[in-house]
Amino acid sequence: MDCNVLVTRMISKPAIEFLEARCKTLEINPHDRPMTREELMSAVRGRDGVLCLLTDAIDETILREATGCRVFANHAVGFNNVEVDAATRLGIMVTNTPGVLTETTADLTWALILAVARRVVESDQFMRAGKYTAWGPLLLLGTDVYGKTLGIVGAGRIGEAVARRAVGFGMTILYADVRANDIMESQHNARRVGLDELSKTSDFVTLHVPLLPETTHLIGPHELDLMKPAAYLINTCRGPVVDEKALVRALETQSIAGAGLDVYENEPAVESALLPMQNVVLLPHVGSASIETRTKMAMMAAENLVAGLEGKRPPNLVNPDVLNRPH
Ligand code: DGY
Repeated sequence: MDCNVLVTRMISKPAIEFLEARCKTLEINPHDRPMTREELMSAVRGRDGVLCLLTDAIDETILREATGCRVFANHAVGFNNVEVDAATRLGIMVTNTPGVLTETTADLTWALILAVARRVVESDQFMRAGKYTAWGPLLLLGTDVYGKTLGIVGAGRIGEAVARRAVGFGMTILYADVRANDIMESQHNARRVGLDELSKTSDFVTLHVPLLPETTHLIGPHELDLMKPAAYLINTCRGPVVDEKALVRALETQSIAGAGLDVYENEPAVESALLPMQNVVLLPHVGSASIETRTKMAMMAAENLVAGLEGKRPPNLVNPDVLNRPH
């Protein structure tokens, strides 16, 4: 295919090989870091397609620089980093990678639930510091997960996969979502409640919503105040869904017991007050970071990109209106 493609950072090899075999020119960011805004701005010029990452802010200015570009294929299910309306206006297709990271992200959500409840990271640090001198009946006591109440905010694919795992832990499952989810209710015995009731009743509140204006700071001082002092907040969706300063206050005043976070409001920056807290587990946005899943995400993004460049409808087009624009 006579096309010129940019990949904004090295991704899994099979996807690179797939693109190399199909595109005339392929440029890959040579650095092991996201491109700076200036680098991105100049690198998108003259491309037919761009495979971009959630760390790339693809706003209208960048999209306008990419004159002639037909597709921006995002290597993520979330596409809040792309100004989709602007892309549609400019006739650029935007795609994402839904489905392939569901189970992997649900696994990591569970890793965080278990880690905060059973003080896994703290226990590991204790061992490495040579502090384990004898088994102790009161040593590093955590809290049970089995039989507790799990509150799932957002009952999409990932929320549902988290619920499926909770069944094995004998949990009472609540969920809050703008829409009812039949599978959650019929197969996982989950009950749909409002966010206030979920916050008040759950032992673990876990977040699985996309980042939208309506979900920004969905969890703020009000919801954190409602949570039980023994409850934990888990976030593996997008940082700005939680008001991070309010979370720090809730942890400092012990109005909640702890938190497990994979994402941050101003990622990669993190509220410094969280760093010394032993009741908080912090991960560097690794929800989908398994070899299998990252390979699938990269392949899916590459296939979306190539389909768009071949004049086909990409399988995971997030702005189908772009196809109805007058030419
Ligand atoms: C996504 O795909 O949106 C995830 O956050 C990447 O891990």
